[in-house]
Amino acid sequence: KFTPRVFSGIQPSGSLTLGNYLGAMTKFVDWQNRGTHETIFCMVDLHAITVPQAPDTLRHNTRELCAGFLASGIDPEKSILINQSRVPEHAQLGWIFNCVARMGWMGRMTQWKDKSGKNAEAASLGLFAYPALMAADILLYKSTHVPVGEDQKQHIELTRDIAAKFNHDYDVDFFPMTAPVIEGAATRIMSLKDGTKKMSKSDPVEASRINLTDDADAIAKKFKKAKTDPDPLPGTPEGLEGRPDARNLVNIYAALAETSVADVLAANEGKMFGYFKQDLADLAVSKLSPVSTEMARLMKDPAEIDRVLARGSERAREISVPVLEQVYDIIGM
Ligand code: ADP
Ligand code: NA
Repeated sequence: KFTPRVFSGIQPSGSLTLGNYLGAMTKFVDWQNRGTHETIFCMVDLHAITVPQAPDTLRHNTRELCAGFLASGIDPEKSILINQSRVPEHAQLGWIFNCVARMGWMGRMTQWKDKSGKNAEAASLGLFAYPALMAADILLYKSTHVPVGEDQKQHIELTRDIAAKFNHDYDVDFFPMTAPVIEGAATRIMSLKDGTKKMSKSDPVEASRINLTDDADAIAKKFKKAKTDPDPLPGTPEGLEGRPDARNLVNIYAALAETSVADVLAANEGKMFGYFKQDLADLAVSKLSPVSTEMARLMKDPAEIDRVLARGSERAREISVPVLEQVYDIIGM
């Protein structure tokens, strides 16, 4: 029996950002509640350690991320919530895919180029191989759909290349061609300090991002200090061209208010950004504070979070163990 499955992951490499929330988390909750697909969501701790993580911080971030999933509306009865390292088939299939993927494919990944920077010789081998492990995360469950932000598009294309090469090399029709799902208003939320850079939880500049753990004061301060230009809000989206910082703030407002950029501009034409940022901060606080309050409540009982993840791993392995067994059999192992 064919089960259509949705898989996606988030790295426990820092506290969840507004970008993760709008670009990923709210979409995960939609998929879950639609009920058309089995949904699996993963704390990808094996990905996080491709760059150094302090052990206690990683442990904390993994639990806090799980609390973020639960507080955002992921129900561990409806969805499977797992910690990547605790479902060993991820790493096992990841190795197989290291042997399927080609060096040249990996070297072309823009995230590898960005993250390894000018000193690729000093980057970990894991950082280079990361997209093959990501393909394993997805294909281990034969996932058909992967909701992600725009930054992950190239990695999903690579996942399809790996699936196609595996199917071709072993003359099987085993792995599906997974579709990326990149839709909605918030596929790419930008840094508050540089509208040409993605907002990321691993950005060393704290003021560049809103974190779900920020209180109302911190949120207001960060929006107040967000980069803008001296012009007021235009009346239509064309007026935001060449104004990446202004566009980002309007886009964030539209995503939080679940409306369109055009509607936000129509209602705010001529307003100065100083005032608009205050409205934006109020809106963000009203949307995020129930989530952050619930996260803080859940974090008071870390043992319960660990139990949720342990239960999720058991359920995931009912799928992943037989799939890996079939892969080994196909390969001749
Ligand atoms: P980060 O860069 O914050 O560490 P991850 O690599 O853990 O994020 O990505 C988790 C999910 O959040 C992915 O689906 C990714 O596409 C999405 N995402 C991350 N940053 C943004 C952003 N700024 N805007 C929209 N989606 C984002
Ligand atoms: Na990151």
